[in-house]
Amino acid sequence: MTKTRIDYDVKDLKLASSGKNRIEWAEKFMPVLRSIKDRFAREKPLKGVKMACCLHVTTETANLMITLKAGGAEAYLCASNPLSTQDDVAASLVADYKIPVFAVRAESNDVYYQHIDACLDPHPSITMDDGADLVSTLHTKRRNQAPEIIGSSEETTTGVIRLKAMEKKGVLLFPVLAINDSNTKHLFDNRYGTGQSTIDGIMRATNILLAGATLVVAGYGWCGRGVARRASGMGANVIVCEVNPLRALEAVMDGYRVMPMSRAARIGDVFVTLTGDINVIRTEHFKVMKDGAIVANSGHFDVEIDLKSLDRLSKKKREIRANVVEYSFDGKRILVLGEGRLVNLAAAEGHPASVMDMSFANQSLGAEWLLKNASRLDKKVYALPARIDMEIARLKLASMGIAIDKLSPEQRHYLTSWELGT
Ligand code: ADE
Repeated sequence: MTKTRIDYDVKDLKLASSGKNRIEWAEKFMPVLRSIKDRFAREKPLKGVKMACCLHVTTETANLMITLKAGGAEAYLCASNPLSTQDDVAASLVADYKIPVFAVRAESNDVYYQHIDACLDPHPSITMDDGADLVSTLHTKRRNQAPEIIGSSEETTTGVIRLKAMEKKGVLLFPVLAINDSNTKHLFDNRYGTGQSTIDGIMRATNILLAGATLVVAGYGWCGRGVARRASGMGANVIVCEVNPLRALEAVMDGYRVMPMSRAARIGDVFVTLTGDINVIRTEHFKVMKDGAIVANSGHFDVEIDLKSLDRLSKKKREIRANVVEYSFDGKRILVLGEGRLVNLAAAEGHPASVMDMSFANQSLGAEWLLKNASRLDKKVYALPARIDMEIARLKLASMGIAIDKLSPEQRHYLTSWELGT
């Protein structure tokens, strides 16, 4: 189908006033991003730069878009997941902030990709991804535009893994900034953000009591660690499934039971996948699960739960509550949350603004960094310099009113010397 340029595509502009209230609410919890926005408004470091952003369309992302615009960018926004769009936020960005948005919650796959095209049609020079969909499109269908890209930034672990694989194979067509590699991103967003918002999604979808439930976490990266810790704090008995022996060992010493999914599948009440890999829960596991087992995914793509095989196995399928589909076979029911897509965004509101504050401080300073350093960057994956990472941590602490110690000259000298022993 040929595509004509559209200025925006959102569900209903009449939703804007609710979206505006919620965007302003989130802003209160984003002091670091706010300080960057104030500086951007004065200095206009992104003046005239066209940007395409493919991110979850949430109140927090709205504040990032407002910051980029304050910095002088002409920024276009589409969704990085068909189920994560908050329609009122999309409406307000268009109506109140004059930012072009192409995103409608529950859009079809075709429309999802039309919206990606709509953000690339204006020929951006910087792109911002959460899951590498813009970069993929620029490496496949729209390769002719790749030479126009100064650089791209990537928010999430899954995206960064793909981009590093592309760099290794020598197929990357422009520099990429791995926002996820910043400490002020993955140590907080992935751990505390995913930890809390995943539990939030499960609770809002089901209203189950976690105390006393057996909750199986597949994947013990920063996100899995976060979910395990929050679930445990609410009284769940946590089981961890891992393929990496170091991470498995860490989970054991963090106090969790560790076992293969083939065993965990028999005893879990709730399952959460956060591995970044495919078919982590599949036919052999569904077959041995208990009646009423709840299955959710909080990894970036909807590939971790093999829903096609569950569909084939099932005699009956019905939506039993919002964001809960009940599959029935052999006299038992399996409950799948949020269509196996990111449960924290499909069934809740994603990470709280306070943690996205640091992630999006990284994104906005990342865009500035890409622009400043464009001439010396290769077709590689970069991390933001440690000094910017540290500065974000410093600003966040200051916003929380927390002071920390400073090294004395004597202590600084000690740390850089080797002569002093016992
Ligand atoms: N990813 C996870 N939570 C998010 C949020 N609240 N906004 C944007 N991206 C997110």
